[in-house]
Amino acid sequence: MDHFHYRDGRLYCEDLSVADLADTYGTPLYVYSQAAIVGGLKSLQTAFAALNPLVCYSVKANSNLSILKVMAENGSGFDVVSGGELYRVEKAGGDPGRAVFAGVGKTDEEIAAGLKAGVLMFNVESEAELDAIVRVAKAMGVVAPLALRVNPDVDPKTHRYISTGKKESKFGMDIDRSLALGYAIKGNPHVSMIGVHMHIGSQITTTEPYAGAAGKAVTLIGQFREMGHPVSWFNMGGGFGINYKGREAKAVEEFANVIVPAIKPTGCRLVMEPGRVIAGNAGILVSRVLYTKQSGEKRFLIQDAAMNDLIRPALYESFHRIWPVIVPAGLPAPPDDYEASIEGTEPWDVVGPVCESGDFLAKDRALPRLDRGDLLAIFSAGAYGMVMSSNYNTRPRAAEILVDGTSACLARRRETYEDLVEHELAALGAPGALG
Ligand code: LLP
Repeated sequence: MDHFHYRDGRLYCEDLSVADLADTYGTPLYVYSQAAIVGGLKSLQTAFAALNPLVCYSVKANSNLSILKVMAENGSGFDVVSGGELYRVEKAGGDPGRAVFAGVGKTDEEIAAGLKAGVLMFNVESEAELDAIVRVAKAMGVVAPLALRVNPDVDPKTHRYISTGKKESKFGMDIDRSLALGYAIKGNPHVSMIGVHMHIGSQITTTEPYAGAAGKAVTLIGQFREMGHPVSWFNMGGGFGINYKGREAKAVEEFANVIVPAIKPTGCRLVMEPGRVIAGNAGILVSRVLYTKQSGEKRFLIQDAAMNDLIRPALYESFHRIWPVIVPAGLPAPPDDYEASIEGTEPWDVVGPVCESGDFLAKDRALPRLDRGDLLAIFSAGAYGMVMSSNYNTRPRAAEILVDGTSACLARRRETYEDLVEHELAALGAPGALG
């Protein structure tokens, strides 16, 4: 979290005061650090340099055009999972020839869009999807480059909603089915199997699952090559975990230490699909306290960010550090260990204005007493924050700011009420409306 730091008790993003940003742009507000984003990309490119990697930033983690543009300018490729994400990459000036197209439910239209754009390869998740790709490629008179997504059946030991590498997962195919499909498409003139893909889950904080998956990949690559497939890429997916709480994550070098030596003998180039490890700690959500309230023993801090802005705590019971943007005298910067008792704090439930009991950002969180108007920083919100936001309770989505040193750009303006109703054509009597 180096690019978010406290100076004299005030939070800064790079060289800009977060309180000033909140005053200028309002709250709730997402604030991203460009240096953190670029730093995350560079550290992966360096750690895996021995495998000549193509880092395909996973657009789903944070798809703001300004972020995609920064990634493209710094040599990143992209992992897209929909026609919409491919559209964003092209809009941001990204090169589709450095994009992989993943996802279990690609439509014919999306497959055609990927072929037309010239994506590097499709990650194929099932036999039926392969049939669709063959059909669309044949109709277009092109050869579709692809990687089979194989389930290595390793347990990534992460939250069950974001674990994907087990045999029972809806993603990919198990090893036997992948081999059978490899045989089935031997000599098919409409597809070229140039890669093997594995993604085992997200927020993974140990290296063993990657070591297990890489070992299985090496065997498979050999088997596919024996069948005559020109496999020259190994795509190890994404999944590297980040520090949400303290120091639970591993440095990317530690993952490289197990993956690089395993894959090196195959001569394959590496594709990586990192999302969270690049964007997660490059962004915070800033909110303003509206009210405090005590019900029995419970203290509630009601602030203006809600589950519609950041759904991760409600959906995965995930932990995000929360700390005042301007720290009351005598308190430290956000503590590494929230379990410890912190003098000057008491337990608060940090909740939003949405009409759901599930609308919380933290429960029983050690925080100092705060008043109406005080600002809070919700850390590690750069990945799977804004992209999973909604307009529930007809709440306009937050603005997004990208900070670069001493300058800030409005990467997305705050939505207005007009934005929220503009597609509801019938009632608005807009041209083209029915009736
Ligand atoms: N590749 C594939 C095939 C994926 O399914 C994912 C994430 C990634 C790459 C990027 O994974 P990352 O490096 O970000 O871990 N909404 C959840 C996370 C869902 C992840 C979905 N797939 C959350 O907020 O934790």
